Amino acid sequence: MMLRSDVHEAVQAEDRHGAHNYHPLGVVLCRGEGVWVHDVEDRRYFDALSAYSALNFGHRHPRLVRAATEQLERLTLTSRAFHNDQLGPFCAELAEFCRSDRVLPMNTGAEAVETAIKLARKWGYERKGVAPDRAEIVVCAGNFHGRTTTIVGFSDDSPARSGFGPFGPGFVRVPYGDSDALRSAIGANTVAFLVEPIQGEAGVIIPPDGYLAAARSICDEAGALLVADEVQSGLGRAGRRLACDHEDVRADLYVLGKALGGGIVPVSAVVGTDEVLSVLRPGEHGSTFGGNPLACAVGREVLRLLADGRLVEESARLGAAAASRLRAAAHPAVREVRQRGLWLGIELSDDAPSARRASERLMERGVLAKDTHEKTLRIAPPLTVTAAELDWALERLDDVLAGLL
Ligand SMILES: Cc1ncc(COP(=O)(O)O)c(C=O)c1O
Repeated sequence: MMLRSDVHEAVQAEDRHGAHNYHPLGVVLCRGEGVWVHDVEDRRYFDALSAYSALNFGHRHPRLVRAATEQLERLTLTSRAFHNDQLGPFCAELAEFCRSDRVLPMNTGAEAVETAIKLARKWGYERKGVAPDRAEIVVCAGNFHGRTTTIVGFSDDSPARSGFGPFGPGFVRVPYGDSDALRSAIGANTVAFLVEPIQGEAGVIIPPDGYLAAARSICDEAGALLVADEVQSGLGRAGRRLACDHEDVRADLYVLGKALGGGIVPVSAVVGTDEVLSVLRPGEHGSTFGGNPLACAVGREVLRLLADGRLVEESARLGAAAASRLRAAAHPAVREVRQRGLWLGIELSDDAPSARRASERLMERGVLAKDTHEKTLRIAPPLTVTAAELDWALERLDDVLAGLL
């Protein structure tokens, strides 16, 4: 007999004493290893969400746990008032990974996006000569960059922004994937174009081929920065080290997060050129926890896990195979399968039940996935998944999709 999650005391306490800002599926997890998690009744589930790509290396990857444990036993936090022996190497290794110059470490993705916005504006005033307080940043319709008031202020998602204004000026929104619209929106005061190379929360939306390369040249012509928010798309998720690599595009600033913390600690960063990162001087930006030695030690091990390219190749290979299989099944309930790497957006047809309902049915069969918006099911298993484990999950997904209509 399945224990109803709403009668579990942990859920009751959450319901009674926690803010209701999420609507989780009815499962209470207590243990995880690799791609598998267990609920409080010891039922096992395949994790097909990976904490929105924060768990690219699965649950408790032994090398990440070892790196964290060793660092826990040495030094966890210094603040940036003092140096620590992990931050410098972490910055050097992450800058090299991104083929860029410098790193500014933060904690959450939203903080790193805020940091990139501040950097772009300061660069605009000091280097491009934009008049004080006139800097503009071009963003995309359907964007998701986090939850701070500045960020939700330029979102077009009503639940994310309604009721949280007033919002500051300085952002111009253009349709995603439309380089002509970008070209028309960029003006003399534009300091940056902030873009997700693939829009994750919008439903794994892949822009037309050539879009990022076009954005790069439009920014170059206009003297604006290209800022790639790779918080979700980066670090192997999209079948490349960075999703911008699909078009061999180099951004001026990369925003990274989620998987950088190995599913253990929040770690985010802005990685960029000397020219941009050098606009900051002591006292102008910071974070108590940003660059802490525990975060840096875990981040360094994450980069070592990615170094030989094997996980990234597997992401590309397994993801493409999964998408072909789902497309070949031609389920009437599925309108479209979008895929880059181990990142799939399954768009359900209008007459199918909601993606939330599909997620619930998947959960009953032992697969945890999540809807985004009304009709998109998002599948993003850890990159460490084996072909056999993925097959197991895809069989169940096939079953559920076949039964929707
Ligand atoms: C592209 C992108 N940027 C930023 C964020 C915000 O990250 P965080 O939730 O760590 O603040 C997210 C989170 O989903 C994201 O997908």
